[in-house]
Amino acid sequence: MKVVGICGSPRKGGNTEIALREAMKVFEERGIETETILLCEKDIRYCVHCNTCLTDPCPIQDDIPEILDKMIFSDGIVIASPVYHSDVTAQLKALFDRTLPLRRQGRKLKNKVGGAIAVAQARNGGQEITCSQIHKWMLFQEMIVAVDLNTTHFGGTVQGDRIRLDAAKDDEIGLETCRNLALRMIELMELIGVR
Ligand SMILES: Cc1cc2nc3c(=O)[nH]c(=O)nc-3n(C[C@H](O)[C@H](O)[C@H](O)COP(=O)(O)O)c2cc1C
Repeated sequence: MKVVGICGSPRKGGNTEIALREAMKVFEERGIETETILLCEKDIRYCVHCNTCLTDPCPIQDDIPEILDKMIFSDGIVIASPVYHSDVTAQLKALFDRTLPLRRQGRKLKNKVGGAIAVAQARNGGQEITCSQIHKWMLFQEMIVAVDLNTTHFGGTVQGDRIRLDAAKDDEIGLETCRNLALRMIELMELIGVR
């Protein structure tokens, strides 16, 4: 069993990364292999709808191929985003658009288990809407969407801060939603027979 976590924040070591690592810790504690990707360290260009990926590899030269490979060789994917105007960051949206070849060239994310985490300045600042945007992309990729029914219905929903990079550490209720999301993902991966 392998789980990849992707952090869509442009701020390294920020609140979204803290929330994502809280979920990743749950997998690690259970002996599940993990890898965390920070989009702020990656070169990601926009999809330009050239349609090359209908038949051939994407011609854009950046860090996308290595990220897509890690997604393909995972059983579960956690996507974490800061809330920007009640939506994912532009960095994450750019990644979503560049995953089109995965769908077009053999539905490579089909039946992987996915979970979403969103972190906002406000207590109710658009976390649930942002998680839904992530879920929408997961459904488009035919993934199995995990939500946690114990403490939230949308995945990890955390309060961060525009100034304090580590404010999420104080949001115990929010961090619990991240841990519970990971537990639900494990439950689903076991249910579909992932070893
Ligand atoms: C362009 C932009 C838009 C934002 N929109 C929202 C928003 O809609 N709701 C909210 O509560 N916080 C909003 N924020 C604040 C961030 O979600 C918040 O600071 C979060 O902790 C950032 O995550 P990070 O610490 O991982 O960078 C916005 C911040 C930026 C830069």
